[in-house]
Amino acid sequence: MNAPSPRLRLGVNIDHVATIRNARGEDYPEPLRAAELAIAAGADGITAHLREDRRHISDADIVALSDLCRRRGRPLNLEMAVTPEMVDIAVVRRPHAACLVPERREEVTTEGGLDVVKAYDAVTAATHRLREAGARVSLFVEASSEQIMASAEAGAAVVELHTGAYCEAVRHGDDARAGRELARLRTAAIQAQALGLEVHAGHGIDYATVKPVAAIPEVAELNIGHFLIGEAIFVGLQAAIAQMRALMDAARLGATA
Ligand code: PXP
Repeated sequence: MNAPSPRLRLGVNIDHVATIRNARGEDYPEPLRAAELAIAAGADGITAHLREDRRHISDADIVALSDLCRRRGRPLNLEMAVTPEMVDIAVVRRPHAACLVPERREEVTTEGGLDVVKAYDAVTAATHRLREAGARVSLFVEASSEQIMASAEAGAAVVELHTGAYCEAVRHGDDARAGRELARLRTAAIQAQALGLEVHAGHGIDYATVKPVAAIPEVAELNIGHFLIGEAIFVGLQAAIAQMRALMDAARLGATA
């Protein structure tokens, strides 16, 4: 009998609660309340992206979310660009984890992974500063061998594999591309684990795409946001998270059965 694989963690990204709040310049809906509900619904951690343009999450949100996560004993995963300003904020806030992502002001969401090969010196310097401040550093990368190797060399503890291309292929009904993208994710996960990196995955995941990603045994954590916040409009945040959790658990059980 196979040993049961460790429980796959779910990090809930609450950025888009802030997107709705900011659309009217009001103080509701509160990302903090969403984080509380997510924890009550079984989220293993809270993820929030403090963008340079502060289009959704604000500095005050990060202060409040850090306090909540500390009180509730849940990790806060702070997504951030590789800039001195963001590294300074993370050094002060000391989140459990810092996930370095690429950021362009004109993009709608995080498009593509961080080019660790190209930005190697800056990523390595940021990684070292964050590590010294006690954060586990995760690099959000494409499922590419070069990026994973560079991530390990840069001193990261974790790589988060960008699942956007796989999820987009599934949504567009392009089975051949979805198969290729999933195979790339699997290969990358094996390579990353062999290099001693913890493997996370995220971006664009919904109910239709979660199971094949969750079934990759090397993946320890999924970070999911936009779909859950959208689904919450119809069924409530706790029900949406519970359904995602159930699909993740079923996929994991199937993978080890
Ligand atoms: N992981 C990372 C590193 C991200 O940048 C994002 C998007 O902010 C996510 C996960 C979550 O993606 P989505 O909101 O599409 O579920």
